[in-house]
Amino acid sequence: MSKSVNIVWHDSNVTKEDRQSRNNHKSAVLWFTGLSGSGKSTITVTLEKALFDRGIQIYRLDGDNIRHGLNNNLGFSPEDRKENIRRIGEVAKLMVDAGLITLTAFISPYREDRDNVRWILEENEFIEVYVKASLEACEERDPKGLYQKARAGEIKNFTGIDAPYEEPLQPEITIDTEEQSIEESVDVIISYLRENGYL
Ligand code: ADX
Repeated sequence: MSKSVNIVWHDSNVTKEDRQSRNNHKSAVLWFTGLSGSGKSTITVTLEKALFDRGIQIYRLDGDNIRHGLNNNLGFSPEDRKENIRRIGEVAKLMVDAGLITLTAFISPYREDRDNVRWILEENEFIEVYVKASLEACEERDPKGLYQKARAGEIKNFTGIDAPYEEPLQPEITIDTEEQSIEESVDVIISYLRENGYL
């Protein structure tokens, strides 16, 4: 619930459109969602570098990093995950306003929380990217050893084990990391951005 009362919006003399036209590209959020270990961080790190090298104004927000700072007071209950995603949605919106292509890599397991971010942005500013990999594959990869801990009962509410993951119903892009290489995945996303007039 909003506690913001007696607050008046103050407009800027530099608009989002001014910034986009100086950058020579649109700004938008590429919202990556998927299980832990599905490949969100790996793909976004590679994509960020590829677009940066092409002169694109870009920034990446990543779950593990943001939880060290801005969201270090949040855990993994449904309420805390909701607040995690709400804050990241607002930060991403500011970055879009600042003219950036913004990459976010959060499990963001709840459809409603992701949709809420979609609604605070303008049409075409939210590009949902489903990073698809089976639980078996993610558990096999287990890059941080967390699935093993979750199976041993050392971590509670672990997504895919004893907490849900709600697949996107109509993501703009789906990447299957059991089938596609990182390079292929990055190419698919850059092509999407080109074909849809973002770049
Ligand atoms: S989200 O569900 O709120 O979107 P977020 O992406 O920020 O999650 O953080 C997920 C990362 O936190 C995972 O990649 C993993 O490294 C770590 N983690 C620690 N505990 C959990 C848990 N209970 N469930 C999922 N991930 C966890």
